[in-house]
Formats: sequence, C-alpha cells, structure tokens
Amino acid sequence: MRWSSLIVFLGCASWEVAASAAKLVPGKAFDRLITIWLENQDYANVILEPSITDLKRRGILATRFYAHTHPSQPNYLAAIGGDYFGLDHDDMVHIPENVSTVVDLLEHKNVSWGAYMEDLPGPGYMGNYSEGQEGIGGNWDYVRKHNPFVSYDSVTMKGDRLLKLESFNDFQRAFKAKTLPQFVFMTPNMMNDGHNSSNKFAADWSHKFVQPLLAENAFDEKTLILLTYDESEDYSQPNHIVTLLLGSAIPPALKGTEDSTFYTHYSMLSTMENNWELPNLGRYDVGANVFKFVADASGYKNNQDPENAPTVNNSVSYPGFLNGDPKKKLPIPIPNTKLIGAGGLPILDKIKVAWSGATRDKSWQTPYDGSGRVCDGDRNPPIYNPSKSNVKGTSI
Ligand SMILES: *[C@@H]1O[C@H](CO)[C@@H](O)[C@H](O)[C@H]1NC(C)=O
Ligand SMILES: *[C@@H]1O[C@H](CO)[C@@H](O)[C@H](O)[C@H]1NC(C)=O
Ligand SMILES: *[C@@H]1O[C@H](CO)[C@@H](O)[C@H](O)[C@H]1NC(C)=O
Ligand SMILES: *[C@@H]1O[C@H](CO)[C@@H](O)[C@H](O)[C@H]1NC(C)=O
Ligand SMILES: *[C@@H]1O[C@H](CO)[C@@H](O)[C@H](O)[C@H]1NC(C)=O
Repeated sequence: MRWSSLIVFLGCASWEVAASAAKLVPGKAFDRLITIWLENQDYANVILEPSITDLKRRGILATRFYAHTHPSQPNYLAAIGGDYFGLDHDDMVHIPENVSTVVDLLEHKNVSWGAYMEDLPGPGYMGNYSEGQEGIGGNWDYVRKHNPFVSYDSVTMKGDRLLKLESFNDFQRAFKAKTLPQFVFMTPNMMNDGHNSSNKFAADWSHKFVQPLLAENAFDEKTLILLTYDESEDYSQPNHIVTLLLGSAIPPALKGTEDSTFYTHYSMLSTMENNWELPNLGRYDVGANVFKFVADASGYKNNQDPENAPTVNNSVSYPGFLNGDPKKKLPIPIPNTKLIGAGGLPILDKIKVAWSGATRDKSWQTPYDGSGRVCDGDRNPPIYNPSKSNVKGTSI
C-alpha cells in the first residue's frame, strides 16, 4: 500500500516536470538568452585583456557594437524599452505604465524571464542602492541605475513582475535546479562589473563567472550568453564597446570568429523578437540589426549600416521626456504602430491600444521609422514624422 502510493506520487512529480519543460518556447537560434552587463570600458582596451581574449576563442566577437549615450542609466533603459527617452543622468526615474518593455513582448508569447542583480537585498527592491559584501568604506554595491526594470512602471506596478527582480544568489539556485527563465538579465555589483574596480578586474571576474555556464552539461536548452558593456569609458570617442556572444547556441564553426555587423543595445531586442517571433515595441527596436548568426538561422535580412553612422556622436543624449535640462524636455514619443519588426509581426496589440488616444492627435509625430538610423544629441537628433510603414507596399 505504501509502495503503491509512493509510485503514484513519483509518477505525478515527473509528470509535472515534463509539463513545465513543455512550456519552454523554442527559438530559431537559441532557447535562452543570458545577458551580463559590465561597465565603462573602451573596445580598444577590453580586447587586450587576456581573460577576454580567452573567452573570444569560445564565441563570436562583435567588432562594431555601439552604446547609445552617457552616462550608464540610459543605456540600460534602452536595452529593454527601445528608447532612452532623452535621459542624460543616473538619478531615479519613473517611466509611465503605458510604456512597454521586452517584458510585455515575452509574456505575450509565454517566454519566461528574470533579472538578477548582484547584492539586491531582496526581490523587487526599489531603493536607489544597497550595500553588499564588497563595498569599500561602507559604500554601496547594488545600484538602481544599473537595473533598468525598476524604472518602468509597467514592471513595478505588477507584483508578479516585480518579484522577478532577484539577486545573484537566486540566480545560482535557479541555475543549479535547471529552472532559469528563458530571458535572463544580469547586473554584477559595482566591483565585479568594473565600475569601481578596473578593466582587468571585470574581465577576470567575467571569465570566472561564465565558466560553469559554458560547461558541457550546464543547460539542457540551447543557450546564448551575451557579455556586454553598458558604454565606453572615453566620452570623446563614439561609444564603441565589446560584446561577446558565447554559449551552447553558438554554431561550432563560428567559435573564435568576428562579426562586423553594426549593432547597438537595441540589437538585443530585435534579436529576441526575431528568435521567438515576438511582436515589436514600435520604437528603436524596429530596424536594429539582428545578431548575424541568428538572422542567418531565421533567414532574416538585416539593414545595411545606418547611413549616418560615420557622423554619430553617441556621447550626448538627445532631448526627451527624461532629459534633466528643462529646455530639452519633450513628451514621450508615440510608438509607430505601422512598423513590422524582426519577428515578422506588427506592434504588440496592447501597446497600440494604450496609445490609440494619442495617435488621433495630428500634432503628435513619431521618431521611430524602422530604418536603423542612429540618433544622438549632437548632429543626428531624432526626426519626427507621421507614422509610416517600413515594409514597402503595406499599410496597416
Ligand atoms: C541615486 O544614486 C545615484 C548613483 O547611482 C546618484 O547619482 C543619485 O544622486 C542618487 N539619487 C538619490 C535620490 O539618492
Ligand atoms: C500562454 O499561456 C496561457 C496560460 O497557460 C495560455 O492560455 C495562452 O494561450 C498562452 N499563449 C501563447 C501565445 O502560447
Ligand atoms: C563607487 O564609485 C563611486 C563614484 O564613481 C563612489 O561614489 C562610490 O562610493 C564607490 N563605491 C564603492 C563600493 O567603492
Ligand atoms: C501615458 O501615461 C501618462 C502617465 O499616466 C499620461 O500622462 C499620458 O497621457 C499617457 N499617454 C497616453 C498616450 O495615453
Ligand atoms: C559630441 O557632441 C557634443 C555636444 O554637441 C560636443 O560637445 C562634442 O564635441 C561632440 N563630440 C564629437 C567627437 O563630435
């Protein structure tokens, strides 16, 4: 009697495991994306670090990857929201609930996600910073400016989303239990990300940190690890940063190679849209080049280099809703509801509905045209036009 009920119990448990594994949404080139963000280093210096040179052998080096502006915070916000809304500082900001992020796109398709911030004192913590284990002289280790999720009300106003912002300890637990979500955003603390240490420190830390993630049996699913920097250190240069693509999703023949396609932090968004056939945000996500090995796997055709690339000065923020200069404050631009993104789909329906009131007002135009043109606060400001499709011969 006891044995048979045990068998029933075990049978039930394995059925549940099978059921949860079946919920994984397979992608065209990867089933999981883990992105790890380091701080403030120039491309030219990073590629000289032995730890990075060693990692490069095991993946693809993106040689023309650019951040959007300075300082840190706008770059993080851009990577999940498809714009940085003119932000030019690191202080606390709030973006209203009617602005969507990648979270809305992923949840629409039931692709699981989570964000892990080292030294976050507890799930969903919304404070400005927190002291961890490594801070020097009582200083903080976790900083809100490196956690883009807490600045979007569309994340923080929903308890279940807020609870998905966790610490590195939670990451390690989920990794060991093989329960990591399919999109994972990771911010190391201010020492490990290099902000308060050095180029070498961050490179060595990363090398050590990713070893278990690169091990043969680390994941059952095809996993892409995107090791990137938020911005360059030198503000007089065009914000050229190192990004390495690693993990079991990299085709063996491409290990140790370079990819010279033009990318920005918006490429992470367009790549996920392409990989999982997600709708789009109607912002700068549309038109950003998809990582080549993913585009090749899905048959997607990237844009050429942005025509204004040589004159871009990605060191200064354009005017916008979050700009600290009152003279440079503008309303949040309406998303372009007529764009088709790299997932082959239009804007997420919910976004179209949320902004339908605004589109009726003819004075509102949009800077998002799906062309991949790069904008800065110098010679290449956003250009506002009526919403227009980026696909010839269509009118949605
Ligand atoms: C929040 O922290 C940032 C540094 O990460 C600092 O620049 C800013 O002044 C702080 N804001 C508040 C309100 O404490
Ligand atoms: C997502 O999951 C919910 C609940 O299980 C289901 O009703 C819905 O059809 C799923 N959506 C997609 C796009 O798979
Ligand atoms: C990190 O650097 C900032 C200045 O960039 C400083 O204010 C802060 O105290 C430092 N924190 C640690 C943990 O060293
Ligand atoms: C978006 O939300 C903000 C804050 O609630 C509001 O001021 C704005 O009018 C909304 N925009 C649209 C188009 O509804
Ligand atoms: C970038 O733009 C700023 C602001 O217009 C300007 O001060 C700076 O000199 C420009 N840098 C380059 C390299 O053009």
